[in-house]
Amino acid sequence: MRNIPEHFQINSQGHLEVSGCDTIELARKFGTPLYVLDETRIRQNCRDYVAGLAEGYPDTQVCYAGKAFLCRAICCLMQQEGLGLDVVSGGELFTALKAGFPPEDIYFHGNNKSRQELEFALQSGVGCLVIDGLHEVELLAGLTRATGTEKRQRVLLRLAPGVEPHTHVYTQTGQEDSKFGLAINGGQALAGVKAVLNSPHLELTGFHVHIGSQILDLASYGVTAGILARFLAEVRAETGFTAKVLNLGGGLGIRYTRDDKLLPVREAAGRIGQMVREVFSPLDYPWPKLVLEPGRSIVGDAGVTLYTIGNIKTIPGIRKYVMVDGGMPDNPRVALYQAVYEAVIANKAGRPAKEAVTVAGKTCESGDILIRDIPLAVPESGDILAVFSTGAYTYSMASNYNRLPRPAVVLVANGQGDLIVARETYEQIVANDLVPPRLCAEEPREAAEG
Ligand code: LLP
Repeated sequence: MRNIPEHFQINSQGHLEVSGCDTIELARKFGTPLYVLDETRIRQNCRDYVAGLAEGYPDTQVCYAGKAFLCRAICCLMQQEGLGLDVVSGGELFTALKAGFPPEDIYFHGNNKSRQELEFALQSGVGCLVIDGLHEVELLAGLTRATGTEKRQRVLLRLAPGVEPHTHVYTQTGQEDSKFGLAINGGQALAGVKAVLNSPHLELTGFHVHIGSQILDLASYGVTAGILARFLAEVRAETGFTAKVLNLGGGLGIRYTRDDKLLPVREAAGRIGQMVREVFSPLDYPWPKLVLEPGRSIVGDAGVTLYTIGNIKTIPGIRKYVMVDGGMPDNPRVALYQAVYEAVIANKAGRPAKEAVTVAGKTCESGDILIRDIPLAVPESGDILAVFSTGAYTYSMASNYNRLPRPAVVLVANGQGDLIVARETYEQIVANDLVPPRLCAEEPREAAEG
């Protein structure tokens, strides 16, 4: 049985290959650790989403959730594929605008957007703000009044539908006990609707929910759609407002290991569309436009991280540690969510797995373990380890812990690899450091104190 995902190949040298690029060549050319993203796969995922959702439901839009991985090149790619963009901070918005992404196709999210971020969004002409909380309704109403323009800002209201999908508790977001959204139960959401409708500078177009991430059981989407449909009817009865947009967020899971059972993207998107359609079919309610904003399932399985194996430590009768030149700083998901990854030795990809080893990172943390007990071909110092399905929430969550520079990101397609994020340099690591004069060695201590 192949121990590599279907869109990877093994070339005549026995090396792991992705979209026509030899990963060993990539490691040699760009250094390690290295994030490699398969452009062909990302584009295929985008197209499968767009086509699948449209097969299931009549009026649809797919937006890419930039938090999974964002840089200028990815914004350009998403624009080429005709996707909208979900941003969640001033920094993500800035990135998108720098890439020339059309602001009208941007949804701006966040459970605690700052005044500056809201101002930035309004000035940039962001297509839709997703309001999360009554505080923001007030803040926005004040800001839009101050701009003095006649144009009303389009907004969605984020709801907490009270759904708990089966996923890691840190990535559940739709339950009532959550910092996100206005709870439907108890009337907060309805109060939010009334507040927005009373704001002359805001135009409510519909509602948003995001129930969680790495969801493998699609039934939660159907349950959510049902709850929303009941809420829409209640809102219309109470206020006369009819929603034009229903944004069900992201959340579709990807295959991290062979044990993860899931539908291909096209079928999954189609199924979600169909479930929403089934909910609205019997109702006397105009079908709203259905928006999905996937992140992980667009870029996740397109990514592979390459590391160089250095130190190998065998503790007889206990375990063998294989240490790589990255770890927790470039992939904090293992420590945060107990995420499990699969990997192969890229320069021995054709060889059978011989022994179970533990892959450890290089930081000063015992918990910096990337993969526990994974069967690999016999590892040697200098080998390149390829960890699969690392396209989402790795670079975007990376840190400089231990002052390790963040790795580069390479986009590969049809035998060509292009840098889309350069490797951080030591100079960049110290670039924001400032040393007050009193700490400079040449300054006498008394003078500094005096
Ligand atoms: N829309 C909203 C409002 C979100 O909060 C998220 C993710 C998405 C869309 C995209 O969800 P996706 O399709 O990627 O599941 N760091 C965690 C995941 C956090 C997800 C946060 N919100 C992880 O590495 O598993």
